[in-house]
Amino acid sequence: MPGTSTAVTIRPLDELDISGIVRIDEKISGIYRPEVWETRVMYYTRRDPGASQVAVIGGKVVGFMLGDLRAGEFGLDEPSGWVERFGIDPDHRGQDLGRKMFDAIKTHFVAEGAKSVRTLVDTNDGGVAGFLKAIGFAPAPLQALEIRL
Ligand SMILES: CC(C)(COP(=O)(O)OP(=O)(O)OC[C@H]1O[C@@H](n2cnc3c(N)ncnc32)[C@H](O)[C@@H]1OP(=O)(O)O)[C@@H](O)C(=O)NCCC(=O)NCCS
Repeated sequence: MPGTSTAVTIRPLDELDISGIVRIDEKISGIYRPEVWETRVMYYTRRDPGASQVAVIGGKVVGFMLGDLRAGEFGLDEPSGWVERFGIDPDHRGQDLGRKMFDAIKTHFVAEGAKSVRTLVDTNDGGVAGFLKAIGFAPAPLQALEIRL
C-alpha cells in the first residue's frame, strides 16, 4: 500500500532478483518478458557489480535501478555513471524508493571515479522525466540524434 512505513532495504542487484523485476515490469507494462530481464540483469551484474540497486520490502523486490560506469564511449573520456532502466511497483510509489536507489547507485559511481551521472529520457514520458528532474537531472549539452528507419 502506498504510504505504509514497512522497513525498506536498498541493496545491490543480484541474479536472484530477476523474477522480482519481471513481475514489476509486467505490472507496469503489461508484458511478461523474463528473457529480456535475464539478459539485462546478467549484463549489469557482470559489467559493474554493486552498481545496480533494488529496493526490498518484506523480502519482496519492489523497485530496481540498473546502470553502469562507462568511459570512452562516443569519445566521452570522462568516466560517467549511466542509469539505464528503473521501475517501482505501482503499489509502492511515492515513498522515495526511487530517490534512495539513485542515492545508492550514485554513491557507487562516485567511488568508481565518475564525474557525472547520465541518462536518456523520452520527454514525452512526463512521469519519468518529472522523476529524473526531481532527483537532480538537468539537460546536458549532449544531444541524442536519430534517423527513423
Ligand atoms: C518514475 C518512478 C520510478 C517514480 O517512482 P516514485 O515512487 O514516485 O519515486 P520517488 O518516491 O522516489 O520520487 C522521487 C521524486 O520524484 C518525484 N516524482 C516521482 N514521479 C513523478 C512524476 N510523475 N512527475 C513529477 N515528479 C515525480 C517525486 O515527487 C519525488 O520528488 P520530491 O522528493 O522532491 O517530492 C515510477 O513512477 C516508475 O517506476 N515509473 C515507470 C518507469 C518505467 O516505465 N519503467 C519501465 C522499465 S525501464
